Amino acid sequence: MNARRALVTGGAGFIGSHLVDGLLAAGWQVRVLDDFSSGREQNLAASRERIELRRGDLADPETAARAVVGVDVVFHQGAIPSVPRSVEQPVETNRANVTGTLTMLEAARQAGVRRLVYAASSSAYGDTEVLPKVESMPATPRSPYALQKYAGEVYCKLYDELYGLETVALRYFNIFGPRQDPKSEYAAVVPRFATACLRGEPATIHGDGEQSRDFTFVADAVAANLAAADAPKASGHVMNVAGGRRITLNELLAALQRIVGSQVAPIHGPPRAGDVRHSLADLGRARELLGWQPVVSLEDGLRRTVESLRA
Ligand SMILES: NC(=O)c1ccc[n+]([C@@H]2O[C@H](COP(=O)([O-])OP(=O)(O)OC[C@H]3O[C@@H](n4cnc5c(N)ncnc54)[C@H](O)[C@@H]3O)[C@@H](O)[C@H]2O)c1
Repeated sequence: MNARRALVTGGAGFIGSHLVDGLLAAGWQVRVLDDFSSGREQNLAASRERIELRRGDLADPETAARAVVGVDVVFHQGAIPSVPRSVEQPVETNRANVTGTLTMLEAARQAGVRRLVYAASSSAYGDTEVLPKVESMPATPRSPYALQKYAGEVYCKLYDELYGLETVALRYFNIFGPRQDPKSEYAAVVPRFATACLRGEPATIHGDGEQSRDFTFVADAVAANLAAADAPKASGHVMNVAGGRRITLNELLAALQRIVGSQVAPIHGPPRAGDVRHSLADLGRARELLGWQPVVSLEDGLRRTVESLRA
């Protein structure tokens, strides 16, 4: 049997590059489309010889059309993935996140791609007080980023219903792990805290640190994508992908300090605009439709992240 062919948009990014590794290990042929705006060559160091790499803008219709030729499944990870950046640059981020998703859906439809798996975001839930967050809750986006990622989900559902392109939207909850950039101005909290601990510098916590998140190790997100490529009942659905337990940022910092062996007190800055207070996922739908659940404990995931930052 011929190997199945995948296109990973944003494949040079943090999650995308782990997905590339997972697809290669599962026997797929892999093409990557990335403009390297936040993606990095070194994320593909281990896979570079085994993939077809296209450098280009996924929101450009011709680039997208060329990238999907011969592809069975598109894993659409490419985006500008930052709440604060979307607050500062709503129009630019809308182009990558909404126009880009629509462009990939349309290219996939025209080329007869079987399925598109979309990297959606838990930010779509907004600041609901009710936990855990279940997919049946109304979306209440609180930032341009959240709205843009939610619009992508709705487009996915529409393409499934209207055009018969199978789509699955995975709402990621705070993915973390090796290769997540600790240096960017918009860096995510795990690599920021871990790097501060390793340097013996104070970590900056936005607000009082009692806000909570459901952290997901990247290998679990990759496994959810592989399941979503085939799961027959998943098409047309949105589902949470998360670790399934929540901790506060103060607890996260304490856990990282234990792992690293550092004791530096944090600095508390002002809360960030557009941030939600608490987050915890219900995983029933992913379990039912994908047969997937997370297997990496938070402690283990944090250890693996710290080890990779040390290296
Ligand atoms: N990291 C998380 O916790 C999280 C949570 C929810 C959703 N997501 C989603 O997961 C996906 C991957 O996020 P990540 O954390 O790996 O971020 P990342 O920045 O490492 O990856 C995004 C990739 O998309 C590429 N890209 C951006 N605009 C592009 C364009 N116009 N054309 C081609 N490539 C483009 C970037 O160069 C980068 O390689 C994103 O869609 C993001 O919205 C991530």
